[in-house]
Amino acid sequence: MFHRTARVTEHVQLAERTFRVRFECPELAAVIRPGQFVMLRLPNTTDPLLGRPFALYDTVLDGSGKPLAIDVVYLVVGKMTGRLAEVRAGESLEVWGLLGKSFLDVGYPERVTFVAGGIGQTPFLAYARELLGTRGFGGDPPRVRTKKVVLYYGVRTASLAAGVEDFRAAGVEVHLASDDGSLGTKGFVTQLLESHGPTGPLVGCGPEPMLHALAKLAAKWKVPCQVSLETPMACGVGICFSCVTKVQTPDGWDYKRVCIDGPVFDAAQLVWDHKT
Ligand SMILES: Cc1cc2nc3c(=O)[nH]c(=O)nc-3n(C[C@H](O)[C@H](O)[C@H](O)COP(=O)(O)OP(=O)(O)OC[C@H]3O[C@@H](n4cnc5c(N)ncnc54)[C@H](O)[C@@H]3O)c2cc1C
Ligand code: FES
Repeated sequence: MFHRTARVTEHVQLAERTFRVRFECPELAAVIRPGQFVMLRLPNTTDPLLGRPFALYDTVLDGSGKPLAIDVVYLVVGKMTGRLAEVRAGESLEVWGLLGKSFLDVGYPERVTFVAGGIGQTPFLAYARELLGTRGFGGDPPRVRTKKVVLYYGVRTASLAAGVEDFRAAGVEVHLASDDGSLGTKGFVTQLLESHGPTGPLVGCGPEPMLHALAKLAAKWKVPCQVSLETPMACGVGICFSCVTKVQTPDGWDYKRVCIDGPVFDAAQLVWDHKT
């Protein structure tokens, strides 16, 4: 676990209310894996008091190929993200991690399909690079695990789509959907996915109704499906129990803490009835 003040080296707007912030944190960049997250907090203030969780978007290498910085992409929704958007390059953030578990092992399938809704695309860029073998994470050398990564990405409206070019540049095939038809196919991203027919392993991140629809599709198609939950969290390290989710057990169900048992779960193991 590292906790440090990290210098912001780049902060750019990608879409409406959506930004990419880059901060130097070589110790974390060297060990973090796709699916894991960090807590960010604004330094020298107690408002807001608690840090907020953000997924690894990508790591940035220095001139000699060593991990130097971390990219996070975020949507402004409230107090912390609103203030984060005002932080300039040269200023600093409080960062701590490594937090959470990385994506589950999918083996070596022909194709892996990501399904993202809202700001749920953020954990997938690093994961695409890892699966396609163009970048190693957590100290591992790059290793090809699949030939093809496809992203289905749904947003409410076109102006909220963030990072599409990053995915295309990483070699990902991208299919877009929007609620109002202003980008890609009109309708829910899970409907677009269903219209294209069964796939190999599915990986989802986004609003829980979308993840529930994805879990049902995966069950119908009999394909493995893992989902990354964005449950609000207070401590991020397993102490406060503010982040629990219901998971099936041999006796019925039990609560699991999303911060330390997740955020990635097998969709078939989650109890969805209380969520949607
Ligand atoms: C593991 C994990 C990874 C995440 N990765 C990202 C990421 O990469 N990019 C990103 O933009 N966001 C991500 N989030 C969500 C992010 O943590 C929240 O958007 C952030 O905490 C909001 O803080 P705030 O102070 O701006 O909003 P607040 O002022 O705390 O809340 C504003 C409004 O947003 C709602 N809200 C807050 N957090 C959430 C949430 N997690 N889900 C749904 N509604 C919420 C509140 O109920 C409130 O209505 C992630 C969450 C988790 C758990
Ligand atoms: S956020 Fe405190 S236990 Fe998960």
